[in-house]
Parts: sequence; structure tokens; C-alpha cells
Amino acid sequence: MPTSTSQPSQAATRSPIRLICIILLVLFVLLGLAVLITWLVVRPKRIIYTIENSSIQNLNLTNDHLSATFYFTIRSYNPNKRASFYYDSMDATVNYNDQNLAFAAVQPFYQRKRNVTRLNLEFVARSTALPSAVSKDFLLEKSTGKVQLDVWLKARIRYKVGAWKSRRRTMRISCSPVLDFNRFKNLKRTYCATEL
Ligand SMILES: *[C@@H]1O[C@H](CO)[C@@H](O)[C@H](O)[C@H]1NC(C)=O
Ligand SMILES: *[C@@H]1O[C@H](CO)[C@@H](O)[C@H](O)[C@H]1NC(C)=O
Ligand SMILES: *[C@@H]1O[C@H](CO)[C@@H](O)[C@H](O)[C@H]1NC(C)=O
Repeated sequence: MPTSTSQPSQAATRSPIRLICIILLVLFVLLGLAVLITWLVVRPKRIIYTIENSSIQNLNLTNDHLSATFYFTIRSYNPNKRASFYYDSMDATVNYNDQNLAFAAVQPFYQRKRNVTRLNLEFVARSTALPSAVSKDFLLEKSTGKVQLDVWLKARIRYKVGAWKSRRRTMRISCSPVLDFNRFKNLKRTYCATEL
């Protein structure tokens, strides 16, 4: 019968294929482990952003149009022992109640391992139109002495570990400092949320 004679020869041809499959599987598992370990070693910790201090000058909110100059000193700390960061571009906006008041661009920079870099941001709002409800809220909050603003940064970054460089990614940073209008300063150091 053809089935009984073909059985052993089939088993004989299957075993080297099975061996190759097992070797390939082991190689894949080892490769996966190597990738995982490399990723765990290479994966950078989050950069820590804080707003250290801030000030406002020449605030004028008349007829729902806001003019002011906002200054923020933002501290950026790279806690990584192995990863350094290229900031290829960085845009910043200052907002109130989701309304954009002014924007600023930050010069590209390179941040070494364990480095602290301070960014001095200056936002100039020139007669920015606000919805009248937002403008009312702003004046009301200002009369209590404290106004919460939002500073949003969006950076295109690459990080470098040894000679390896990541592809370009977007890092978003959001900070919500509360400004004290009686002293035109922010109340305390504000920690920002970062998302990479
Ligand atoms: C924050 O304080 C530092 C040192 O006191 C000063 O150089 C900087 O101009 C201040 N920044 C703002 C936005 O007030
Ligand atoms: C505030 O802005 C209004 C309208 O733009 C202007 O008429 C007024 O003179 C400004 N006030 C100050 C103190 O600059
Ligand atoms: C961080 O890097 C910048 C730019 O390379 C440099 O000016 C600054 O002194 C460094 N700061 C520290 C604390 O190493």
C-alpha cells in the first residue's frame, strides 16, 4: 500500500525541517530578548520640566483685547545617565482657558546627560482678541489676585544613546503656573507634565 511505505520517508524528511524550525524559533526568541534588553537599557527616563519663576509686564485687557508680556524661566533637567537629547525645534504657547494668548519659539539645543538647561521664554501678546466670556473670567480671576495660565511646549526631539540615535519624536510638555497678580510673579515652583 502506498500509505504504509510513504510514512517513514515522510517522517525522515520532516525531522530536519522541524530541527530548522526549532533553531529559527530559538533564534527569534533570543533576538526578541536582545531587543527587549536593549530597549530597557536604552529607554530614556522622562525629562523633568519645572517653571521656576515668571513675571508679567504691561498687562492691558481692554475691550476683550489683551496685551501683555509674559516671562517664564523654565528648568529642564535630563536625569538620564546614558541618553542625551537633541531638540530640533520647540514651540511654546501661553494660554488661558484654552485660549491662546501668545506664542514663542525656542532656539534648537542639545541637552547632555544629567544636564540642567534653563529656558527663558518671553511671550508678547499684542492685542490678542478673546471671547468676551473668557475676558470676563480673566478680569474676575485677576481681581482675586491669582490667575492660572497654561504653558504648552511642543518639541521635536531625537535622543542619543552611545552612537545610536532615535528617530524624531514629538515631546509635549504642559505646565499650569498660578500667577500672583499682586506681585506679578508665580506663586511657587510648578512641575510640568511631559509626554513623549
Ligand atoms: C527668575 O529668577 C532668575 C534669578 O533670580 C532671574 O535671572 C530671571 O530673570 C527670573 N525670570 C523671570 C521670568 O522672572
Ligand atoms: C490699553 O489698551 C487700550 C486699547 O488698546 C488703550 O486705549 C489704552 O491706552 C491702553 N492702556 C494702557 C495703560 O496702555
Ligand atoms: C547644560 O548644557 C548647557 C548647554 O550645553 C550648558 O550651557 C550648561 O552649563 C549645562 N549645565 C549643566 C548644569 O551642566
